[in-house]
Amino acid sequence: MTATDRERWDRRHAVVSAPVPMPPDALRGRSGLLPAGGAALDLACGSGQVAVWLALRGFAVDAVDVSPVALRGGAALAAAHEVTVRWVESDLDDGLPDGTWDVIVCQRFRDPALYPALAAGLAPGGLLVLTVLSEVGDEGGRFRAAPGELLSAFDELEVLHHEEGNGEATLLARRS
Ligand SMILES: C[S@@+](CC[C@H](N)C(=O)[O-])C[C@H]1O[C@@H](n2cnc3c(N)ncnc32)[C@H](O)[C@@H]1O
Repeated sequence: MTATDRERWDRRHAVVSAPVPMPPDALRGRSGLLPAGGAALDLACGSGQVAVWLALRGFAVDAVDVSPVALRGGAALAAAHEVTVRWVESDLDDGLPDGTWDVIVCQRFRDPALYPALAAGLAPGGLLVLTVLSEVGDEGGRFRAAPGELLSAFDELEVLHHEEGNGEATLLARRS
């Protein structure tokens, strides 16, 4: 990522006000699919709403974003809720942190080059929670997933839920 892109994200995060802990969109009404506990990774975590929601459920959370402004917001949210999250300032163009996780969330950030690492990063029984922009129900464009992209990228996993429409694609999948 270029310095200009990072500054653009910092400016966007600087105007986000009063974040609250929130489940990832794909888990709304499906939080029973979450493993009982363990390690969780939230990629491109923004201001940490999902990361803190996971920490409040007892997960040991690693949360990665390129924007220090976003991560400071996340740290403040975690402090307000008296939970600990490991905030990692990193450019995902350089790949994932090392490790395996029981839950990996990546919401509203799409980089197909990371898909193999996302699958490899799931511990046995681990849950992948993805939402990306999709061409389905939208006009298309270079940041959007082609129809069926998530199903074919993660065909080694057990698909628990898949949905495409209104410009978004969602996948919930488990490593058996
Ligand atoms: C649309 S926001 C989504 C934030 C959060 N996942 C959510 O659902 O609210 C995209 C996030 O990706 C981060 N981001 C963009 N490019 C990145 C990169 N190359 N490496 C790490 N984070 C990046 C931005 O700082 C921003 O927080």
